[in-house]
Amino acid sequence: MKVIHVSAECYPAAKVGGLADVVGALPKYQTNLDYESAVIMPYYNNKYAKNSKYITDFKCNVDLAENSFKAVVYKVENSFEDLGFHLYQVKIKDLLDRENVYGYQDDTERFIAFQKVVLDWILQFIKAPEVIHCHDHHTGLIPFMLTQCIKYKSMRGIPTVFTIHNAEYQGEFPFEKLSYLPEYDLEYSGLLEWDYAINPMAAAIKACWRYTTVSPNYMNELPYASTGLDWLFDTEREKSVGILNGIDADVWNSSTDPMIAKNYSVNTVEAGKKANKLALCEKFGLNPDKPLVAFIGRLVYQKGADIMAGIFDRALDANDINGLVLGSGDPHAEFLLNELKEKYPGRYNTFIGYDEELSHLIYAGADFLIMPSRFEPCGLNQLYALRYGTIPVVRTTGGLKDTVKDIGEKGGFGIRHEHVTVDDVALAITRANKLYNDTDEFKRIRKEIMKIDNSWENSAKEYIELYNLIAK
Ligand code: ADP
Ligand code: GLC
Repeated sequence: MKVIHVSAECYPAAKVGGLADVVGALPKYQTNLDYESAVIMPYYNNKYAKNSKYITDFKCNVDLAENSFKAVVYKVENSFEDLGFHLYQVKIKDLLDRENVYGYQDDTERFIAFQKVVLDWILQFIKAPEVIHCHDHHTGLIPFMLTQCIKYKSMRGIPTVFTIHNAEYQGEFPFEKLSYLPEYDLEYSGLLEWDYAINPMAAAIKACWRYTTVSPNYMNELPYASTGLDWLFDTEREKSVGILNGIDADVWNSSTDPMIAKNYSVNTVEAGKKANKLALCEKFGLNPDKPLVAFIGRLVYQKGADIMAGIFDRALDANDINGLVLGSGDPHAEFLLNELKEKYPGRYNTFIGYDEELSHLIYAGADFLIMPSRFEPCGLNQLYALRYGTIPVVRTTGGLKDTVKDIGEKGGFGIRHEHVTVDDVALAITRANKLYNDTDEFKRIRKEIMKIDNSWENSAKEYIELYNLIAK
């Protein structure tokens, strides 16, 4: 293996958001470019684990202060044939092997133990990987442990890349838990600290060889993003690079996607989208003759969840459109979105939950997809929407700014707005409705956007160039 990706999520083994999509696709594209990649992630007690066959690769004990746990690293049988890369999963009984990825009160313990097992596993390799690529704060202590922990001294020369998918989540924990880490020279404790706590995101930025963000524009925003690490991002900028996420063009392909009602390509987009819209509207009691505006995502502040019901209320009131939301998260946002169904029967619906299949049908069947994000490190939804001929309506921020050009500009194909307010987003939806009624232009744009190449090919190369820069 040349590069090992370490992550809490990887599609299809476990997915909460875009992190899983990235880690489930980038290694395949890298391997296709002759840069052999593997992924190591936790083993969760979920459907994927129940349906997979595992081969034992490595066993060890992992200690957290006075508690000791048995750990096994499994290789997923046939992962290379099925996914295009080797997938390994770390099972730590009674700690990591739960149904969900996150959300437990001992998440700190779970992910520290995971990271220690990952390094113990690599330690016994005959040939070390050329690069270890860590994703988000759950793997942020690895660059520190590699450079500072006595146990891993022999691996100090392995370069580390740390990718920030979302700087909002940093994994802070109190100093008392420092004893969970393997022995290191206390003189270097400062590398772990930020703002009177141990901060794995900050530690990763300080200790890694290079760090990346998932879009160039998010990198520009980070020093001003009020994440609490602004100053650190500003200072360490020299070792950073922004690399735009791509999409897995095999999974997100409307001509072969088994999860949608009818497959279609650029040439058959009208009939294809019509059939998918019909299926979607039937399922949710909506009118297929009206423009359909959808939202898919985690219902959190980042995504504008707190004003989502207000946005649809205002937009539905002002326009002859239909609306649909798929998501889960903040209970109050869920409540308001459910309540909206009563106000607009036959025009609006909400599906609370996580449903991969339904998300594909929405990308295929909707006319517009809104993303009123307060910040968006990259965003994949808009890329999926484009590929499925659905016009994105996005806030000008982060990766959305890098990937969506407003129809008001030359060569524009999407709708952008500046502010995350009910009025601004509703106005953007009104522009979308106007575009829909300008039928020829609407049809032209949706053909054009399907042709945009946002696949991983280019960005996978950029990562490899970065690895080559730091690997011996
Ligand atoms: P983030 O990682 O911040 O959640 P991204 O846009 O990068 O945002 O990726 C979100 C991914 O999660 C996409 O694949 C999207 O389709 C998927 N997704 C989000 N919410 C849901 C849901 N409720 N059901 C199905 N898929 C979802
Ligand atoms: C994060 C970000 C999202 C990004 C995804 C994958 O969850 O919120 O913008 O697309 O990671 O990198």
